[in-house]
Amino acid sequence: TKRPTDDQYVLAIDQGTTSTRAVVFDHAGQVVSSGQREHQQIFPQPGWVEHDAMEIWRNTREVIGLALADADVNRHSLAGVGITNQRETTVVWDRHTGVPIYHAIVWQDTRTQAICDELEASHGSAAFRDAAGLPLATYFAGPKIRWILDNVEGARERAENGDLLFGTMDTWLIWNLTGGVGSGEGERQGVHVTDVTNASRTLLMNIDTLDWNEELAEAIGVPVSMLPEIRTSSEVYGYGRRESLLIDTPISGVLGDQHAATFGQACFEPGQGKNTYGTGNFMLMNTGEDIVRSENGLLTTVAYQLSGQKPVYALEGSIAVTGSLIQWLRDNLGLISSAQEVESKAKKVENNGGAYIVPAFSGLFAPHWRADARGVIVGLTRYVNQNHLCRAALESVAYQSAEVVEAMGADASDELTELKVDGGMVVNETLMQFQADVLGVDVVRPKIIETTALGAAYAAGLAVGFWESTEEVAANWAEDVRWSPQIDDAERQRLMRQWSKAVEKTFDWVD
Ligand code: G3P
Repeated sequence: TKRPTDDQYVLAIDQGTTSTRAVVFDHAGQVVSSGQREHQQIFPQPGWVEHDAMEIWRNTREVIGLALADADVNRHSLAGVGITNQRETTVVWDRHTGVPIYHAIVWQDTRTQAICDELEASHGSAAFRDAAGLPLATYFAGPKIRWILDNVEGARERAENGDLLFGTMDTWLIWNLTGGVGSGEGERQGVHVTDVTNASRTLLMNIDTLDWNEELAEAIGVPVSMLPEIRTSSEVYGYGRRESLLIDTPISGVLGDQHAATFGQACFEPGQGKNTYGTGNFMLMNTGEDIVRSENGLLTTVAYQLSGQKPVYALEGSIAVTGSLIQWLRDNLGLISSAQEVESKAKKVENNGGAYIVPAFSGLFAPHWRADARGVIVGLTRYVNQNHLCRAALESVAYQSAEVVEAMGADASDELTELKVDGGMVVNETLMQFQADVLGVDVVRPKIIETTALGAAYAAGLAVGFWESTEEVAANWAEDVRWSPQIDDAERQRLMRQWSKAVEKTFDWVD
């Protein structure tokens, strides 16, 4: 392969929970241009969250156009395309028409609780944890597929006949980008693939062999024939369809968004980890070739797998609601008019005034895994005002992350010495300082905070020789800001005790 020249780039598509972005990167890992489109959040019932997969595909095409036009780059200058995506969100579509048979069921959606309870009773959660490395929870894709097959008329029969395909957003986009139904003259059929990181979030993949597990699929009630082929995170899966902006461009990297951020933060060695502050917070720590089974409420997941190499594993602490709590303060309560305002209000007060918000909107994920939990605001007195509530909202992001870090410490052999952070909320200095305070270790923000898109670009670029090695991409990482703890251990322990009391108030709310 040729070495890249100055006018060669990699395109990353980041299909997230609230928006889809396309970002053009150069060889130094710098952002050259980007395009972004938000999509509709559909809430048909309490606890249900859906997306329109067709809208997301339309947005994807638009943002690719925006990013390429903005950089004045065309497909001839693109060495490869990387995909990264909100994980677990489930699409089922007709392979003949390319049309989804139901809205995408989003990772936050809790409608599959009854299915999970039934599986727990019939098979026990240990069977799933042992084989898939995951707790039996509504978060994952497998039970969402089952719900669609049970609830859309005729779906199970069509699935068993081989007429329906399942995919997480990576699979849905690659299938469309590479050809879709491919019925026109000279058209290619879309390829139906996923990567090991996305497959590791379905409750259907064997975490040891990285193959679909037929017993789990049968237990959940998902025909294996509708599942995509599992591939590594960095290889050529297919080429852009004809008459598209990406015609004949290799699609050469796929990583679930949190895995991509881990990759973009160059966490290539065991013990290295990152925390991303997005809609939710997700902390991943590289455990190398070891499959560490958590005893403290974390997930075992694949960090990434490069072509021809062994998989690298990670422990993950997933927190469902962090940034989306700030959106909720803005959209549902009208307490702030923009997300930024949460910081200016929080800064007007010294502390939370005794108030705690525990945003258990989708139950509580790591490390509690309590589907029966619902959100609470506690510690209210006449003294508490809106600034205290803004402060409490920010603090809840840091407290939830501190619980996950504590669980990591208990599960993993390596002690965390500092926390690398990224994601939209890391511009919030008040939050970052408080995070360092409650963790008792330094919090470090890199110069490039577009780590999710960057990780996908790296995976795609490594597959086509645009970058030579993980060492080469690691050299692009550079520290920007560091926050050190400013409170003592006794105060830290007092704060965490109060937080734990608030968390207990969320339990047993749903019968
Ligand atoms: O597991 C869900 C996660 O992948 C969503 O990430 O950044 O789209 O909220 P984000």
